[in-house]
Amino acid sequence: MISIKSNDEIELLKIAGSIVHDTRMYLLPFIKEGITTKELDKLAEDYILSRGATPSFKGYNGYPSSICTSINEEVAHALPSKRKLRNGDIISIDIGVCFRGVHADSAWTYPVGEVSSKREMIMKCTKEALFSGINAIKPGNHIGDISHAISKISEKYHLSIVKEVSGHGIGRELHEEPDILNYGIADLGEELKEGMVLAIEPVLAVGRGDVEMVDDWTIETVDNSSTAHYEHTVLVTSDGYEILTGGIDG
Ligand code: MF3
Ligand code: CO
Repeated sequence: MISIKSNDEIELLKIAGSIVHDTRMYLLPFIKEGITTKELDKLAEDYILSRGATPSFKGYNGYPSSICTSINEEVAHALPSKRKLRNGDIISIDIGVCFRGVHADSAWTYPVGEVSSKREMIMKCTKEALFSGINAIKPGNHIGDISHAISKISEKYHLSIVKEVSGHGIGRELHEEPDILNYGIADLGEELKEGMVLAIEPVLAVGRGDVEMVDDWTIETVDNSSTAHYEHTVLVTSDGYEILTGGIDG
């Protein structure tokens, strides 16, 4: 069962979502050559705490950091470390915030300085996949419509879907039912209803999309090809959707 949020929960989710978005905006000027991902993690954690919220990921299944920072071939859950950003990298930053017991979750990928056209392309196409998935959200549609819309974009550009990462329901828990695969068949799955809240999060790869674990959290593409990750937390409304963690530009 996918939970339907109460009006009070929706108000809190909107606040949690805006703190996620504000955290991303706060980090933006720091995403430069030379900074370590651990430094970004500390900045994000301090900012989230200053807003009276807590980082959802810290302590989740033992996750030790506040955000996920995945560079180039790293996928989705990479741990902040002493690795420094270099000119030409792309970095996906995933942020989860808990405010008065409810969670919002969102990720975005950024270029560091000048990046290759391949990396520009994977960012642009993965963002398109996210919004194509989001555009499939309205009451009466099904979870499979979101999955299908995302996979159509990856096919259109001959990219691979990293199948190990999927979207999810969100609310009182960071990960709630259902799993929202980034590939699937239209019309299948549970029907969308007003008051559901879903985190949509495609990860696409330039290369084959096969991945391996390099530590407890960090996954990398086997062929070392670059990946991008975009995620928004989205409320199903009476006639469509509302994005709670920002918009088309982040
Ligand atoms: N957005 C990611 C997800 O929903 C972040 C999870 S990081 C974790 O899977 F540490 F919380 F697992
Ligand atoms: Co998520």
